[in-house]
Amino acid sequence: MKQFDPASSFGADVAARYDDALRGDEEAAAQLLCELAAGRRALEFAIGTGRIALPLAARGVTVDGIELSPHMIERLRAKRGGDGIEVVQGDMSVTTTGRRYGLVYLVFNTIFNLLTADDQIRCFANAARHLDGAGCFVVETALPHAWIPSGQPDYVHAEQIGLDAVVLDVARYDPVTQLLEENHVRISTGGITMNPIVCRLITPGEMDLMARLAGLRLVERFANWQRTPFDAQSTAHVSLYALSDGVQPAGSALHAA
Ligand SMILES: C[S@@+](CC[C@H](N)C(=O)[O-])C[C@H]1O[C@@H](n2cnc3c(N)ncnc32)[C@H](O)[C@@H]1O
Repeated sequence: MKQFDPASSFGADVAARYDDALRGDEEAAAQLLCELAAGRRALEFAIGTGRIALPLAARGVTVDGIELSPHMIERLRAKRGGDGIEVVQGDMSVTTTGRRYGLVYLVFNTIFNLLTADDQIRCFANAARHLDGAGCFVVETALPHAWIPSGQPDYVHAEQIGLDAVVLDVARYDPVTQLLEENHVRISTGGITMNPIVCRLITPGEMDLMARLAGLRLVERFANWQRTPFDAQSTAHVSLYALSDGVQPAGSALHAA
């Protein structure tokens, strides 16, 4: 998608509708993250509108954020409790908050929003930079093979079908660059709008190698926030990384594993 600017993907329109359809696993995510934080401060990369940060903060965890889109930050600020969360506007692969955390997390496929392997590696390194010695970095994504309809690099998926509007996901995957180019086309009685986004899909194995390059090691992998064991049927993963030279990360979720 020529001239695509990642910073434009989460503009005012997308931010305004972002929380209309939640995934439904927010409380389970917040519960696992709360156990991993184990009373320590947490940092969310790409915090968005606070979909996860707010229920986590409601459990008593102090959460900071890094976020690229000023529109998403504005939505977070407008929510109850949103003004209690410190957010630095910037790119999560390089921006720092100047603090160290017991928990850094990056959810909802958002590592894929970095469009080169170098930027994705830099993001792991930036997470490592923010961890305290017993800290944990949590990454959640879908699995690439589960995301793309089998054997179809080009597809149109009916995302929403309503009386007054339909949303079509028009997409193409390039296995050479690993880039998935998508345009969410909303056709309604009021007109047509386009929300383009490009993602670079990577597998859990690639993430483990990126983590190793950043001085991190995999300590646990679940299939979802409910902690279902990760196996050959899994369509997503929640992966927990710790500093290679750190101590065993704190958090009851890890000790139970
Ligand atoms: C799918 S949303 C996820 C938001 C939130 N984490 C959640 O789970 O609802 C992706 C978010 O990543 C942000 N984002 C994309 N690229 C980024 C980057 N390089 N640095 C920081 N934030 C980024 C977007 O602006 C958007 O808010």
